[in-house]
Amino acid sequence: MEWLVPLADLDYGEEEEAAVISVLRSKWLTMGAVTEKFEDAFRTLTQSAYAIAVSNATEALHIALIACGIGRGDDVIVPSLTFVATANAVLYTGANVIFADINSPQDLTISVQDIARKITPKTKAIIVMHYAGYPCEMAKIYDLAKANNIYIIEDAAHAPGAIADGKPVGTYGDIGCFSFFSNKNLATGEGGMLTTQDAELAKKLLLLRSHGMTSLTYDRHRGHAYSYDVVALGYNYRIDEIRAALGIEQLLKLENNNYRRSLANSQYRMDLENVIEVPFAKPKDKPAYHLMPVLLPKGTNREAFQGYMKSVGIQTSIHYPPIHLFSYYKELFKNIDHKLPVTEDVASREVTLPLFPTMTGEQIELVTHHVKIGLDQAD
Ligand SMILES: Cc1ncc(COP(=O)(O)O)c(C=O)c1O
Repeated sequence: MEWLVPLADLDYGEEEEAAVISVLRSKWLTMGAVTEKFEDAFRTLTQSAYAIAVSNATEALHIALIACGIGRGDDVIVPSLTFVATANAVLYTGANVIFADINSPQDLTISVQDIARKITPKTKAIIVMHYAGYPCEMAKIYDLAKANNIYIIEDAAHAPGAIADGKPVGTYGDIGCFSFFSNKNLATGEGGMLTTQDAELAKKLLLLRSHGMTSLTYDRHRGHAYSYDVVALGYNYRIDEIRAALGIEQLLKLENNNYRRSLANSQYRMDLENVIEVPFAKPKDKPAYHLMPVLLPKGTNREAFQGYMKSVGIQTSIHYPPIHLFSYYKELFKNIDHKLPVTEDVASREVTLPLFPTMTGEQIELVTHHVKIGLDQAD
């Protein structure tokens, strides 16, 4: 379907085309010099000691958990209001998922109080998710985790370039996990990145990314190694040079594009004042403005609202159907009452409006004009 205003749109140009052609002509397609350059640039962005590229954030989450030693018998606390990959990654390791609630309809990030309530001796890690690019309460979460000797993994899929409690997102936690899926602030199609300050964790992540092998094909190509050993059960979670090249170009645009997202967000907030509830009215620090969530009044028919928006060519979405209400998870946790009242309320009313860096003022006006009509129709 051709949308008049799509939910997201890429900021791609000749730079990305030239970068890909350059890789093709180099005849080295998988992890090599371009990937190293992308990792260096990402390390600088996040002021991290280590940045390790992978082919998506789901894999990043998976090996982040393994590197922290999480497995069968361990509990990992995660939000339910997130993409399913956040919790799936925990299940891949054999560990158990414990869902925590979000703060409020104004702050859709994980609740520190609920994390505290749900910590037990079995809790080994917390995965926080910077919902829509708005940072979680990282200083408080850090204190709580350290007091209980628990790892923090940041699902920063929505938040490259954001600052949380004075530090770049992805650096409060033991490991940060970023996504470069095609609708993200930094988009390469598929792609992801791990960040950490810890040399031991970085060493493990490097092994896990590539079959547990002690040297890479690229090292051998460069004459740096002739053979290799396998010292861990690793995976093939490598990125390739084509996507790394796209990542470098997108990273150059990130700061400005996050700024353009913030301007679009401000215009939305002005135009929607007294029209609809817009979460994160007073964001802390520096968000990445990945998504534009709004909350319909209680009792509004969401399907009718989204149907109306679709009928006028405006794409909307829902972030997210909560994980604990998916059939697979309901079956898995048959007899468990997760006690997530805020998540359930917000998830039943949330609609995501279009937001992307190249969005024009006229497009935002069109969306807000139709939000008003849509609300009347779906009342
Ligand atoms: C919050 C969140 N976590 C994890 C992921 C998984 O990222 P990927 O698609 O790169 O595996 C996504 C992607 O949509 C996401 O939005």
